[in-house]
Amino acid sequence: MRSFKRELARIRTRTRTELCDDRNAYRAVSDEHLDLGRRMRIYCGVVARNMVIAEILLTGKVHLVRKPSRERSHPIVMPSEHLPPRDILAFSGSPQRASVKSLSDHGPLATTTQPVAKNGSAVPWKKGIFEISRMRHTQERKIMKALVYQGPGLKEWKEVPEPTIITATDVIVKIDTTTICGTDLHILKGDVPAVEVGRILGHEGVGTITEVGSAVSSLKVGDQVIISCVSACGHCDFCKKGVYSHCLADEGASGIGWIFGHLIDGTQAEFVRVPFAETSLYLLPPGVTPQQGTVLSDILPTGHEIGIQYGHVKAGDVVAVVGVGPVGLAAIATAGLYGPSRVIAIDLDANRVEQARKFGATDTIVSSDADWKEQVIALTDGLGVDVAIEAVGIPQTFTMCLDIVRPAGHVANMGVHGKSVDLPLQDLWISNINISMGLVNTNTLGILLKLVAQKKIVAENFISHTFALEDILEAYDVFERAAETKALKVIINA
Ligand SMILES: NC(=O)c1ccc[n+]([C@@H]2O[C@H](COP(=O)([O-])OP(=O)(O)OC[C@H]3O[C@@H](n4cnc5c(N)ncnc54)[C@H](O)[C@@H]3O)[C@@H](O)[C@H]2O)c1
Ligand SMILES: [Zn+2]
Ligand SMILES: [Zn+2]
Repeated sequence: MRSFKRELARIRTRTRTELCDDRNAYRAVSDEHLDLGRRMRIYCGVVARNMVIAEILLTGKVHLVRKPSRERSHPIVMPSEHLPPRDILAFSGSPQRASVKSLSDHGPLATTTQPVAKNGSAVPWKKGIFEISRMRHTQERKIMKALVYQGPGLKEWKEVPEPTIITATDVIVKIDTTTICGTDLHILKGDVPAVEVGRILGHEGVGTITEVGSAVSSLKVGDQVIISCVSACGHCDFCKKGVYSHCLADEGASGIGWIFGHLIDGTQAEFVRVPFAETSLYLLPPGVTPQQGTVLSDILPTGHEIGIQYGHVKAGDVVAVVGVGPVGLAAIATAGLYGPSRVIAIDLDANRVEQARKFGATDTIVSSDADWKEQVIALTDGLGVDVAIEAVGIPQTFTMCLDIVRPAGHVANMGVHGKSVDLPLQDLWISNINISMGLVNTNTLGILLKLVAQKKIVAENFISHTFALEDILEAYDVFERAAETKALKVIINA
């Protein structure tokens, strides 16, 4: 945002100024022939009532300006009822279709299509940059409540503008159920600096579609959907290979598929805008509750893909999972799909290892025991486990995995690490150890959904507490004190 403002200031100094003392309208700063000659990711401009005024296209050229004027009273058609009285707005899209975003607030304001004059004919876009000094007859935008990140250690359940469609492939979803992830706690600690103050948190949930973009045909208003924590455009090189976690589309940041509650507003809110809806949402089938569906947004795919699949778990294997929070438990719950002979749950928390039995753990070890490692080895043929899965995200637990894996075995790291770990290659190379890691793709969400629907995976087992959406701060409090409260997934129902 700051760089945008700098850019705008820079542009202004290069432009001719044209002042208009129109009682109704605007002060325009423009140059019909301005060519910035550089790339910009956001499109800038200003909107007067019913008017799209400016856009900077990705090419760097300034395009598509329609100057509002009393003399030529042909307002460009745009749903403007939600515009604030004075604002500078960012545009995105194309000359045929622009969307508008307030820079002083977050959340999109409106979407427009090719401007149309009153007589119905298309109005050609022109170049320029305009700023509104006064606008009349505007109405308030609709307001919703959401959990907003306010900087490290700070969060607020507050009123914010409701999201609106920005891109034709978007839908708006009214949240029915959401939850809190360990990653949200990382964000609140300030461990994820990409998250800006003002961001609505949350990347999991189930909701009901209330609005669809013009390019969405396979989803409709009223559909109940599971929101994947990773968004997929469906077209880029990575999406074509199922590596949605690195989707190259231009939402949030190209190359990062986890955008909800990170780079765009998330699901801990009454409504959320879902980009690339057709390739990122899954219809909730009959027989699967929204609460069960919420477990499929993130933790079940993470445990399955990054723990079990990357760890190459196969029939007869001895699998150890170090750290049995919700993500470790998801690995345990999906390990059973591949027929391991033993699944060993390892955690400092005696209560958590006991809970792990419900998910399919055959053995439990409390890792504060001095002989924890010997206990693990004793459960194997003496050579170590075939697959050691890390589900905490600290150097110590990664080392624990290296300590218990057998030669030619696999270490699958799922934890989000904040600092570097020890990797004693001088010892490991000769043991033919395979190490894997990754951000979940949710490319197996559809498969896991079928297994949840058939009760082959019991999603309810992950749910420890239930709250109402307006009590989300209480839900955070319980989730943050998991060791004390025995919380696993806290379900938050709207
Ligand atoms: N790779 C991905 O795509 C992805 C997706 C979601 C979450 N994650 C990450 O997975 C990790 C686990 O998530 P979670 O929600 O289950 O977290 P959590 O905090 O609920 O669970 C962590 C568990 O580890 C245990 N633990 C802590 N220190 C330990 C130690 N020294 N020895 C043994 N056990 C220890 C805790 O008692 C707890 O039960 C986090 O780092 C999270 O950020 C990764
Ligand atoms: Zn998560
Ligand atoms: Zn993509």
